Amino acid sequence: MEDLVLRAIGPGDVDAVQELIESDPGYTERITGYPPGPSDAQRLLMMRPEGLAEEAKVVLGAFAAEQLVAVVDLIRGFPNEATAFIGLLEVHASYQGSGCGRVTYDLVQRYVESTWPEVRTMRLAVVDTNAQVATTFWQRQGFEATGEVGPYQYDKLESTARLYEKQLLEQGRR
Ligand SMILES: CC(C)(COP(=O)(O)OP(=O)(O)OC[C@H]1O[C@@H](n2cnc3c(N)ncnc32)[C@H](O)[C@@H]1OP(=O)(O)O)[C@@H](O)C(=O)NCCC(=O)NCCS
Repeated sequence: MEDLVLRAIGPGDVDAVQELIESDPGYTERITGYPPGPSDAQRLLMMRPEGLAEEAKVVLGAFAAEQLVAVVDLIRGFPNEATAFIGLLEVHASYQGSGCGRVTYDLVQRYVESTWPEVRTMRLAVVDTNAQVATTFWQRQGFEATGEVGPYQYDKLESTARLYEKQLLEQGRR
């Protein structure tokens, strides 16, 4: 699955995002303690770190012939100007395990490099309850643990979040 196209998710894509989230209930359960709820897609489109400008958040979709294959929640300039934070990268369950996650991440990194020139570092958190799925994936994409570890809580679910980063090459030396 190499021919994915990345574009911003619009209001017309909300049902497709919801369907993608519901395709892999295990992920939502591992990070919230609950199965997916009916407004998870809406919430994904709206949620952003406190105090951050609305335009700093972008939700992107990777599409194969207008079929939504993966969704990515990306924050520009968090926690500092030179960093982009990936809140979520989720591949539709029926496309997992066939390279779509890798291709989607490559497209996301290219998007950041070409549209947010001040960004030098890609950053994300892996929650321990999801580590078995996420850690190897992110390491394969070139991410390394920073050593920063913090408590993670979602309602009754308590776990630990571990931060990972990938440094981008300098402009002009890519
Ligand atoms: C994690 C996720 C994005 C991976 O996407 P995918 O399309 O299945 O992954 P790919 O087929 O592109 O695999 C890329 C690499 O990661 C590895 N990988 C993917 N899922 C893995 C898993 N569950 N366990 C171990 N390794 C895994 C693959 O072996 C592959 O390695 P390779 O490049 O050496 O061959 C997908 O499983 C997913 O959406 N999970 C639910 C949401 C989630 O946990 N997202 C990450 C946290 S934000």
